[in-house]
Amino acid sequence: MSITDEQRENIQSGRTSPQSEFDLGASFPPDFLWGAATAAYQIEGAVQEDGRGKSIWDYFSALPGKTYRGETGEVAADHYHRMQEDVALMAQMGLKSYRFSIAWPRIQPTGTGSVNTAGLDFYDRLVDTLLAHDITPLATLYHWDLPLPLHERGGWTNRDTASAFADYAEIAARHLGDRVEHWLTHNEPWCTAFLGYGIGIHAPGIQDTQAAVNVAHHVMVSHGLALPRIRACTKPTTQLGIAINLYPVYGVDDHPDTLHAVKMMNDFKNGWFLDPIFKGQYPERLFENFQVSPPPILPGDMELISSPIDFLGINYYTRTLVRSYASGAPGCISDLQEVTSVPDSLYTAMNWEIYPQGLEDILRWVHTEYAPPAIMVTENGAAFDDQWNPDDKHIHDAQRVAYLREHIRAIERASISGAPMRGYFAWSLLDNYEWAEGYSKRFGLVYVDYPTQQRIVKDSGNWYAKFIQKQASRTNPTQE
Ligand code: FCB
Repeated sequence: MSITDEQRENIQSGRTSPQSEFDLGASFPPDFLWGAATAAYQIEGAVQEDGRGKSIWDYFSALPGKTYRGETGEVAADHYHRMQEDVALMAQMGLKSYRFSIAWPRIQPTGTGSVNTAGLDFYDRLVDTLLAHDITPLATLYHWDLPLPLHERGGWTNRDTASAFADYAEIAARHLGDRVEHWLTHNEPWCTAFLGYGIGIHAPGIQDTQAAVNVAHHVMVSHGLALPRIRACTKPTTQLGIAINLYPVYGVDDHPDTLHAVKMMNDFKNGWFLDPIFKGQYPERLFENFQVSPPPILPGDMELISSPIDFLGINYYTRTLVRSYASGAPGCISDLQEVTSVPDSLYTAMNWEIYPQGLEDILRWVHTEYAPPAIMVTENGAAFDDQWNPDDKHIHDAQRVAYLREHIRAIERASISGAPMRGYFAWSLLDNYEWAEGYSKRFGLVYVDYPTQQRIVKDSGNWYAKFIQKQASRTNPTQE
């Protein structure tokens, strides 16, 4: 039910398993993208610079009580000013790829119409710097920072936002597509819709399930509208995808009510987005189970949403374990009960259960059920309470090292079983602004001392660097 004894011991103690610490990866192809990920609002800061417009996160984080200690991304990791230094760090770590997001409000400050060249320039410099260090850029177009003026017109509840997104996607792709060959339209549409509009713990903070369902549809329509627009102005070899957050769902027992709850939870967490993308339809009874009306689906929408993609991005952090329904009988989504504390399991600082086996399970399930042409794990990582003592040059995050290693092993197993794995991006390159959790949660491979903005590579960053180097030497022994 929980992780294996060996995995628990390894993660708890940060101990290496009996096999060599780096003895994995035999089945990863030589061009596998080993990288790290970030998102614009979480690292850039410089929210008022070079003509950037406001986003829903500027607005939401300034509302009293919405984020930990009222923290905002105003300065964040100051990456906007330290981009060169940060890319140099990536190069020092030997990253093959870097996943970043483009801030829509830097490109179109009002969300539509005129383009802010100074905003594009920043991403130009970033991409050029990455390429100069042989690091493959992977750009995400939407990682939650909707331009505020669009929110004032209904945000994602308004279908016009989908067309505005496709325009913006084309602007970004036209400008960077000669150098950026990997694109993700959206990051975690489930979070955009459900956290932002359903339970309101993320921007823009709306609590309305019907709105969340409509938003999810508009976000997916925007993905479908953007795909051909990006393809039309990029190289034929360009790879397009979308990053979905997935959670393998397990039940506490095999009781028929539990199995029913597992199915409903799986539709809610995974099928809501995977089914439209790969099957051109929403899971049966999804909206009934939400106790809402279906979203406004116009003729042709489902065809748009299911237009072929080149790879699926999967963000994986933890599993979902359910026990039947609060009411004791098959009910609706709001009635589902999650188990949030499993005896003998380990939890990160986010209180997310560490469950590496779940990554293998979800990858195998996605491969069998949906057969995407390629898969990248576009986020995976853990927050722990890292301590930095300035007299010591190291940050000993042994648990994160073990977390990464066990999850990479899970990917290797999925790959051996036939899942078309093409990349892995640790979340995150740097400690950063963790949305409603502010700066209280550290996910980085690199520690950020916020008062000085000093960067210190954690033990996990050094481990990952060595691991990548080992991978390279497998395929090219002269590189050792
Ligand atoms: C994901 C987000 C990412 C980060 C991690 C911890 O849901 O995509 O921005 O916050 O969680």
